[in-house]
Amino acid sequence: MSATLKLVVKSHVARDLLQSAGLFKTDKLVVWEYVSNGLQYVSAGTNPVVKVSLDSRKKQISIQDNGRGMDWNGLQNFFVMHGENLDRKEGLPGRGRFGTGKSAAFGIADVLRITTIRNGKRSKVELKRASIESMSSEDPIPVKIHESETPVSTPSGTLIEIEGVHLRSLDQAGIIHYIERHLAHWPKNATVFVNNHECEFNEPPVASEFRFTPEGAALEKLGDVELVIKVSKSFLDDELRGVSVFSKGIWHETTLAGSDGREMSQYIFGEIDVPALDDDKSPVAPFNVSRSMQLNPENDLVRAIHAYVGSKVEEVRRSLLEADKKRRAEEDAKKLAEQASEIARVINEDFEAFRQRVARIRAKTRGGPNLSQDDQGGNDLGDDLIFGSDVPARETAPTGSPGRNGLPQEEEVLPTPGIPPFNPSVETAENAEAKGRLASGINSRRRPAGGFRVEFKEMGEVSERARYIEAEQAIHINLEHPQIAAAKGNFSVEDPSFKRLAYEVAFSEYAIAIAQLKIKSGDCFDLTDPIVEIREALNRITRKAASLYAQ
Ligand SMILES: Nc1ncnc2c1ncn2[C@@H]1O[C@H](COP(=O)(O)OP(=O)(O)OP(=O)(O)O)[C@@H](O)[C@H]1O
Ligand SMILES: [Mg+2]
Repeated sequence: MSATLKLVVKSHVARDLLQSAGLFKTDKLVVWEYVSNGLQYVSAGTNPVVKVSLDSRKKQISIQDNGRGMDWNGLQNFFVMHGENLDRKEGLPGRGRFGTGKSAAFGIADVLRITTIRNGKRSKVELKRASIESMSSEDPIPVKIHESETPVSTPSGTLIEIEGVHLRSLDQAGIIHYIERHLAHWPKNATVFVNNHECEFNEPPVASEFRFTPEGAALEKLGDVELVIKVSKSFLDDELRGVSVFSKGIWHETTLAGSDGREMSQYIFGEIDVPALDDDKSPVAPFNVSRSMQLNPENDLVRAIHAYVGSKVEEVRRSLLEADKKRRAEEDAKKLAEQASEIARVINEDFEAFRQRVARIRAKTRGGPNLSQDDQGGNDLGDDLIFGSDVPARETAPTGSPGRNGLPQEEEVLPTPGIPPFNPSVETAENAEAKGRLASGINSRRRPAGGFRVEFKEMGEVSERARYIEAEQAIHINLEHPQIAAAKGNFSVEDPSFKRLAYEVAFSEYAIAIAQLKIKSGDCFDLTDPIVEIREALNRITRKAASLYAQ
């Protein structure tokens, strides 16, 4: 083997340039590539301002910056494919990394023209797709020179002009959105205009914030970093969700690290800066040239970052879920209480009418006007067994003239032994005589402060569907009864099917309670009376809830 023989790796510059350009498939990627150059390569102390002009009709894009510009050497360096980033070499790492951004224009267009002024010298050069495609060798591609270091008095800066865009139109909104998204993570003060629009990014309003610092193995891998997880007050768009991973201030990725799509993850965002990423020299690199904004999950450090971020996102997400569950349970409880009192209102309306009717019948069947509590033949249960009320009453006229059903027609109402007055506390009048009908306002409309109470309770799966608690004049509806639990399912307690069932159950229990009261008070004279009573009560009261079934 000859000692002079050698073999080298070379590159076909033209093919290389076009292939690199091929990664920039959309206008927003192309524009951002030159905008980010304009924002990054500024002299110390300059606040970067970049102006983008889009002309869909002329198929042109221009990007003007107030950066440091390039002299002839700088321009030569600009045209080195995969050139080492000079700033990075000097210990000033920034977004530029690959040395391929310059080719972006050829991903969508035919012409790239650069006019750049540095320290009072202006150069203008141009590269066309045709010149690149005409290269039949691996030789360097000649760049057309319009102007070379012409002395000027204008400040430094660079103008990139892209012409012959092959897209049907330029997506101004998309470009603005993309730039704004990136500006949110730009390390320095930066201003970008797109046509007349100034790009701005507003961080979602934060409800709460959590800070974590890794320990143990995570600390070893990630270094002494801080992870900030924020909970947005509002639902976040897809692209805003997740923890943004930075390295030395440069944004590389935003990830939910495995919690994507899970409940409440839509409210989570945040950031972590891991300087070690930028220094990572492992064979399986964390970054690639694609600008996909995704780190390589095969890289060890990236994997460690994902594991750490993922575990903390889950921690926050679960706490949110817990809090949400609690809040919903509280809301549910409130709504249930409202529903219960609404059901009770309907029941009590009926109960009042029922009680009056019984009183009339009793007055008729038992004859005399003297219905004081001591004088109730056949009722050894005692009047207010259930409610313990000593309702003052006054004597009413003996019996009214019999009505159609043989009932007294006047509205006089008698206290009904064994059947509690509708609303004793309201009815009581201090000077009332303790005999006869309730002292005041039985027929006036009023809030049922007494009467039946309805309550939803968790009484266990095997317990009865509902229960009438005589001593409390309460109807308890068992939320855990399989039928009721199934009707509720995962829905709100305001779901119609649940509401209908709740009414139905309460009404059935009420009808039974009424029959029970009647039996106890000795008002049942026939074995079938309670059945008739239940049937009638159900018929009456379900009419009141008919609207629940209306479409
Ligand atoms: N607008 C500009 N003003 C001044 N210098 C610039 C400008 N744009 C590019 N340069 C110089 O040209 C070089 C090449 O730019 P290019 O975008 O191709 O690569 P990069 O920014 O180094 O890396 P990357 O491909 O990751 O963007 C830059 O490193 C920078 O030195
Ligand atoms: Mg660049």
